[in-house]
Amino acid sequence: MQRRSVGTGARRDAFPALHTCAFRQDDDTDFGAVTWYINVMSTYRLLRLSPLHVPLMRKFHGLFGRAFEDPQTYETAPPTDAYLKQWLDRDHLIALAALNAETVIGGLVAYELDKLERARRELYIFDLAVEEPWRRKGVATGLIRLLTDLGKSRNVCSVYVQADKDDSPAIALYDKMGIGRDVLHFDLETPASGV
Ligand SMILES: CC(C)(COP(=O)(O)OP(=O)(O)OC[C@H]1O[C@@H](n2cnc3c(N)ncnc32)[C@H](O)[C@@H]1OP(=O)(O)O)[C@@H](O)C(=O)NCCC(=O)NCCS
Repeated sequence: MQRRSVGTGARRDAFPALHTCAFRQDDDTDFGAVTWYINVMSTYRLLRLSPLHVPLMRKFHGLFGRAFEDPQTYETAPPTDAYLKQWLDRDHLIALAALNAETVIGGLVAYELDKLERARRELYIFDLAVEEPWRRKGVATGLIRLLTDLGKSRNVCSVYVQADKDDSPAIALYDKMGIGRDVLHFDLETPASGV
């Protein structure tokens, strides 16, 4: 899968109320852990990762490498613990994990952008994946809803994400949650990229 050759963009401008699902704050866990029960047989926990969660963050590399069929990008040069700790310590960088017991079954990485035209923010979902056996159980929906929920207190006016034209599961997911826009994506050449 060519993750970056994007032709379709699903973008939410209006930041409508998506917060209708039953998130429950889990008092037993630290760092804003949230539990969302899908049904009695299939429970998982959603967690915003903090600097104490470097080992969990490391599991994202395997998850994304498998899901995007791109182990080269995600697994061959993993950053140091210090880098990941610093990353997780930044307010505008967001990593959300879906956990079944201690196993990461889904992950979302988003970047918050401080806008200039008004004092407001946008969120860009850069990576989102769910382990295959856990798909179609609402895990990705739950991760996105938690993200939009976190955005409420940070004046986030828009959440957007890109999908490959042939990624029908992602397109179906985003179509359900927002409005798709047909745009072109360009990777611009830089001295370091060798594009
Ligand atoms: C795309 C992906 C993240 C969806 O995760 P998920 O947890 O299965 O999604 P959800 O269960 O929350 O799906 C919500 C809705 O999206 C739609 N949807 C999701 N996967 C679908 C599929 N394979 N076919 C059709 N519709 C699908 C459905 O409307 C679904 O609701 P329903 O199950 O009640 O019908 C997952 O398929 C995945 O990890 N794919 C590989 C990585 C990837 O492409 N990531 C997106 C990068 S932009």
